[in-house]
Amino acid sequence: MNNKANEYDAVLDRIRALLEGPCDWTAAMATVSCELHHAFDSFHWTGFYRTVRPSHLQIGPYQGGHGCLDIPFEKGVCGKAATTGETQLVDDVTSFPGHIACSTSTISEIVVPVLSNGHVVAVLDVDSDLAANFDQTDRAYLELLCRELGDRFGAQAIGLIGD
Ligand code: SME
Repeated sequence: MNNKANEYDAVLDRIRALLEGPCDWTAAMATVSCELHHAFDSFHWTGFYRTVRPSHLQIGPYQGGHGCLDIPFEKGVCGKAATTGETQLVDDVTSFPGHIACSTSTISEIVVPVLSNGHVVAVLDVDSDLAANFDQTDRAYLELLCRELGDRFGAQAIGLIGD
């Protein structure tokens, strides 16, 4: 097993332990952002965009520098993940049509949807200053984490989506 997988095993265990007690969806997203962001030096923006009304994402919670506040489903890497319900793994954001540049230093990015009953309730977005920083190990662990979040908090998250 590679070092990255070991670090993911450790950080996912920490997250599960931290979320064991009373915890709502916002507390969970804040804790996940914090733990992931500090586990990997190569993550320079780590956080969530939530579906706040049909086909519309809004920022937070997150760790890192300022990000765009609102993203319609048809825009950017986050929007693509939200529209398709599938993980987007981008080695070089300059070659992704419609990429939204919140930080000029971002080169690679992974966006994983959080699903509940087939609805995208949020996306987890991680950006890196390094080219091609994300691989199938990141995808597998972040998808596992987002499945666990959707299973536990999905109903609560759907209840927060407005008209
Ligand atoms: N780059 C993303 C926007 C979010 S920020 O990078 C924090 C996108 O294209 O969807």
